[in-house]
Amino acid sequence: MFSPWILSLQLILFPLFWRGIYTTETNPELVLTDPVTTVFKSAVLKGDSLVEKVEILKPVDLELACTWTGNPNKLPNITGYWRKDGSEITNSRLTVQLENEQYNLKRVFRITGDTLGNYSCIFSDTDEAKIYFNVAAPEMDDKKDKPIVAYVGDSVTMACKTKLPPNAWLWYKANGTEQELINATTDPLRYKISVDGNTTKLTVMNLTEEDSGVYVCSAIYNIKASVSRVEVRVITFMEPLKPFIAIVAEVIILVLLILLYERWSSQKSSHSPTDNGVHAEPTHKLTREGNNGMDENTTTRQRKI
Ligand SMILES: *[C@@H]1O[C@H](CO)[C@@H](O)[C@H](O)[C@H]1NC(C)=O
Ligand SMILES: *[C@@H]1O[C@H](CO)[C@@H](O)[C@H](O)[C@H]1NC(C)=O
Ligand SMILES: *[C@@H]1O[C@H](CO)[C@@H](O)[C@H](O)[C@H]1NC(C)=O
Ligand SMILES: *[C@@H]1O[C@H](CO)[C@@H](O)[C@H](O)[C@H]1NC(C)=O
Ligand SMILES: *[C@@H]1O[C@H](CO)[C@@H](O)[C@H](O)[C@H]1NC(C)=O
Ligand SMILES: *[C@@H]1O[C@H](CO)[C@@H](O)[C@H](O)[C@H]1NC(C)=O
Repeated sequence: MFSPWILSLQLILFPLFWRGIYTTETNPELVLTDPVTTVFKSAVLKGDSLVEKVEILKPVDLELACTWTGNPNKLPNITGYWRKDGSEITNSRLTVQLENEQYNLKRVFRITGDTLGNYSCIFSDTDEAKIYFNVAAPEMDDKKDKPIVAYVGDSVTMACKTKLPPNAWLWYKANGTEQELINATTDPLRYKISVDGNTTKLTVMNLTEEDSGVYVCSAIYNIKASVSRVEVRVITFMEPLKPFIAIVAEVIILVLLILLYERWSSQKSSHSPTDNGVHAEPTHKLTREGNNGMDENTTTRQRKI
C-alpha cells in the first residue's frame, strides 16, 4: 500500500541526493581534493552574469554546467557558447532549447596548470547572459600591501597561509627579475623556516640593509604553485630619527644665528654710548626741525601781519 509512495519519494530524492554530491550550488567555492578524474561544477544564473570560483589542486577533467532561468523573452531556442579568458572557444556554439523554463549548457574541460583561467558560458538572446568560472589553484589568504619595517641587527618573521595545505612550501628572495631560493638548512644563521600545514613562516635573522627587498612564498600544488609577496625594509636606528635630527640641526643653526646677531648688535651698541653721534643725532635733528618749523611759522605769521 505504501510502496508506490516510497518508490516515488525515492525517485524524487535520489536525483536530489546525487545532485547534492556532485554539485555545489550552495557552496560558493568548490574545493577539490578527492582522487577523481572528473569533477563537476554547476551554477544557476538568474540575472545577467555571475562569477564562480573553482579551486583545483591537481589536473582534472572539469565539467561545467550552466543553467539560465532569467530570460524574460522565453524564446524556444537561443544560442549558447563558451569563452576562455575572453575569447570564444571554437566549435562551442550550439542551439539551446528552452526546457522547464530554463536553458542548460554544459561542457567538459581538461584542466592542467596551463589551462587554468577564466571560463565562461554565454547564453546569447537579444542580450548576453554569462557565468564566469574562475578556475585557479588555491590562492593565498591575505594580500600584504604595506612593507614590514625592521631594524638592522634585529630579526623579522613573515608568514603565508592557504586554505589547503600544499605539497611543499618554498621561500624565495626576489633579486631583480630573478628569484633566489632560500635554504634554511644551508644558511641556518640567517634563515629559519617553519611549516605547519596551511601556514609557513620565514624568519630572517641578524638583518642587514641588504636583506631589504621582496620575499616570495610559494605553495606547491600538483596543478600549479600559488605565490604571495612580502616586502621587507631594513632600516638603521638613525633612519626614523632623520626628520628629528633635521629639525634639531635647524634649531641649532637658528640659535647660532641669533647668538651671532646678538653678539654683533651688542658689539655695535657697546660702541654707540661712547659715540655721541648716534644718540645725539635724533635729538639734534628734532631740535633743528623744531627750530626750522618754528622759524617757518614765525616767518609766515610775520608775512601775514
Ligand atoms: C528555433 O526557434 C525558431 C522559432 O523561434 C524556429 O523557427 C526554429 O526552427 C528553432 N530552431 C531549432 C534548431 O530548434
Ligand atoms: C573573466 O573574464 C571577463 C572577460 O571575458 C572579465 O570581464 C571578468 O572580470 C573575468 N573574471 C574574473 C574573475 O577574472
Ligand atoms: C643578485 O643577483 C646578482 C647577479 O645575479 C648577484 O651578483 C647579487 O649578489 C645578488 N644579490 C643578492 C642580494 O643576492
Ligand atoms: C637545502 O639544502 C640541503 C642541503 O644542501 C638540501 O638537502 C635541501 O633539499 C635544500 N632544501 C631546499 C628547499 O632546496
Ligand atoms: C587549514 O585552514 C582551514 C581554514 O582556514 C582549516 O579548516 C584547516 O583545518 C586547516 N588545515 C590545517 C592542516 O591546518
Ligand atoms: C645573530 O643573532 C644572534 C642573536 O639573535 C646571535 O646570537 C648571533 O651571534 C648572531 N650571528 C651573527 C653571525 O651575527
